[in-house]
Amino acid sequence: MCSEVSLQPFDQGLLKELLHVAVEDADPGEVMPPVPGPGGWTPERQAAFVRFHESRSLAADPVEATFAVIVGERVAGAARLCPLEEAARAVEAGVWIGRSHRGVGVGRAVLGCLLDRARADGFGTLFVSTTPDNTAVKALMAGIGVDLVRDGDVVTAWVDLAAEAQ
Ligand SMILES: CC(C)(COP(=O)(O)OP(=O)(O)OC[C@H]1O[C@@H](n2cnc3c(N)ncnc32)[C@H](O)[C@@H]1OP(=O)(O)O)[C@@H](O)C(=O)NCCC(=O)NCCS
Repeated sequence: MCSEVSLQPFDQGLLKELLHVAVEDADPGEVMPPVPGPGGWTPERQAAFVRFHESRSLAADPVEATFAVIVGERVAGAARLCPLEEAARAVEAGVWIGRSHRGVGVGRAVLGCLLDRARADGFGTLFVSTTPDNTAVKALMAGIGVDLVRDGDVVTAWVDLAAEAQ
């Protein structure tokens, strides 16, 4: 599976494809911050999804790097690396995969790609944050020997990129 999965830096064309994948194959809550109003992929929420990515990763001065997750030749989800202001040489990782591609190793391959990229970009630590019920992320972290620590409604992990490479 790993060799079929790659990360492609975002551009407007990929953003359009990603919106399509998100609408067809994911819930809004899995792929973007909350937007008030009726649930589901309303036109307002789709516009907010595009604005979210344009403002964060396609702006002149991006706050994070976003990548389309490519499986074979198709967009299957997104991954991001966001440098943390509050911790030197630390970067937060995020990922979502469309429902139809989950459970077959894509997430694990993406984690490997993100670890490699973060290390190559000179970061020393990778930060991951999710909810306590996210068993897939817990399994991903367990797979690289890293424990998640619970703090109320959030669980977090700090991955030492130097140690993880050994
Ligand atoms: C989390 C997510 C990215 C994992 O992607 P994926 O492609 O399904 O992951 P994989 O198939 O590589 O599986 C990774 C591990 O999680 C386990 N797993 C996957 N889905 C699972 C599920 N629904 N319940 C329990 N375990 C699960 C797999 O068994 C595997 O563990 P293993 O290596 O010990 O066998 C995906 O579920 C997703 O996009 N979820 C919605 C968004 C999200 O929660 N993002 C993470 C925010 S930090």
